[in-house]
This record gives sequence, structure tokens and C-alpha cells, in this order.
Amino acid sequence: MSLVIIRQDDKIELWKKALQEAAPDIKIYSFLEEHPANEIEVALVWKHPKGALTQYPNLKYIASSGAGVDFIFEDETAPKDLPITRVVDTMLASDMSEYVIAAIFSHLKNFYTYKINQTKSLWKPKKYNRIIDFKVGILGLGALGAVLAKDLVRFGFKTQGWSNSRKKIQKVKAFAGSDELPDFLATSEILVCLLPLTDETSGILNKELFTKLPKGAFVINAARGGHLVDEDLIEMLDNGHLSGATLDVFHQEPLSKDHPFWKHEKVHITPHYASVSDTASVVPQIIENYSRMQKGQSLLNLVSIDKGY
Ligand code: GLV
Repeated sequence: MSLVIIRQDDKIELWKKALQEAAPDIKIYSFLEEHPANEIEVALVWKHPKGALTQYPNLKYIASSGAGVDFIFEDETAPKDLPITRVVDTMLASDMSEYVIAAIFSHLKNFYTYKINQTKSLWKPKKYNRIIDFKVGILGLGALGAVLAKDLVRFGFKTQGWSNSRKKIQKVKAFAGSDELPDFLATSEILVCLLPLTDETSGILNKELFTKLPKGAFVINAARGGHLVDEDLIEMLDNGHLSGATLDVFHQEPLSKDHPFWKHEKVHITPHYASVSDTASVVPQIIENYSRMQKGQSLLNLVSIDKGY
């Protein structure tokens, strides 16, 4: 009765130690060490190598150690009949909110432009912008988007959100479904993407969508690189329809050295840093689910296999 951690970054030992300390009774393995595949009941995964989940005949469920589960659905060899859980965590959500708000203020107060002007010793004040001057539209009002929306309202931003099914958040104008997407876009001067990556949302940040935003709109993508059509963004920045973009996620990570985003003055890059699961904050829900599984109780934060998130 054990759990295996499968991930390819340098955090595997960190997770193992945190889980072992919190639950000394559970046998925790890294997939890199020798481990009894037959005994593994839970796989805690983050961007695992495709095929890695096929060697566990007694797996009961797959747990993502992040908010996203897109990489599990992308692995065609992953068992199809098992429950999948994801992380829903207050720290993950508040970290994301802080990141997006930092990007919004950098744009609002022209910090990005002033940084470029500094490299040219250029003293050139721009029109002063205030919170009330901008309407922020959030694509996706789930566990992350809803927290951001509430924080933006607290700051005094005009805030609206779009989601599949209508969400109710005080002082946030809620749009829902494809019929209402054009009206939402037409009034979003800063567009933030926090959608899950699914077949429906893949490539949603494309030329057609950007064209519907007001001229001069600013885009923030902190969801997944797969939401964005990179060439369309560059075209819309170059023709002046969009004023800039802050991107935290990319089709390929790390972003390849020769990608045009690196040198584009209107693109601001962070290295998938917006919000990353903190072991201390997330481990308790992993343990709780393990114990629920043992008792035959329903798991927390279950993913809808039909919806893909
Ligand atoms: C981070 O990208 C996550 O999905 O938790």
C-alpha cells in the first residue's frame, strides 16, 4: 500500500520528504528508485514521462500535484478508468492572484515601457493611468479565477469574468458560454487567461479572439502555453491592436532560446512562476485523499473526466 511520486524536475526528493514527514505510515517512493510496482495504489504526478503510469496494475487513482491535469489527459497511455484528482489550494490561488495583479500594475503604471526607456536613457512620461481607467476580464472563474476576481474588486478594478457556466461573485460581471464571449471580449481592456487546458480551450487565444478585444488591450496568460497561438499574438502586437502581453506559460518549457518572444519589446516573460504548488500547503490534501481512498470514501478535488478539468 504505497504512493509513488513521478515528476521530471528537481523537486522529487522535496515532495518525498514532505510526504514522509507528514505521513510516516504511508510508504512513499520516487519513481526513480527501485519500488514494488504491484504495491502502488496512488501516483502523485507532475508532467510525468508518457507511459510511466502503465507499470502499476493496482493503481486506485492518479493525483496531480498541481492545479492542472492537462498533462495526464495528454498521456494516451495513462489508465482511462481511474479517478484523477487535482490540487485546490488557497496558497496556490492567492499566489496566482498576486502574480496577475503584479502584471496588471506593471502595465497600468507603464513599468514595462519605462524599463525599456531606461535602457535608452529616455525620460518620457506617459499618460497617467489609474485603477478606475481599466476593465479587467478574466477568462475562467474557477478556483484560481474567482480568487483573482475578488482581489481585483477589493483593489477597485472594474472586473468581469467569463466561464462555461455562469458564476456569481459580488461586483463581478459574469458572462457565460460561447454566445456571451464576444461581449465579454469587447469590454476587456486587460484580458487574463486562467482557463483549464482542454480540447475546447486549446488555441483559444488566437487572432479571432484578439480582434474582438478593444484596441490597445493587454493580455496576460498564466494558464497554459497551449491556450495561445504564438504567431497570432506576435501579429496582433506588431500591428498595434494589442499593447503588450505578460506570459508565464509556453508550448515548450523552458521556452526555446530562439523563440521570437524573448526579443519582443511588448512581450514580458516569466518562467512558469505565477503559482507553483507549495509542499507544506498541499501535502495535507494529498494525505487526506490517501486516507479517504483506504476507507473507501469519495476523494476530494476530483476532476471531471468528461470536461477534462
Ligand atoms: C501549475 O501550473 C499548476 O497547474 O499547478
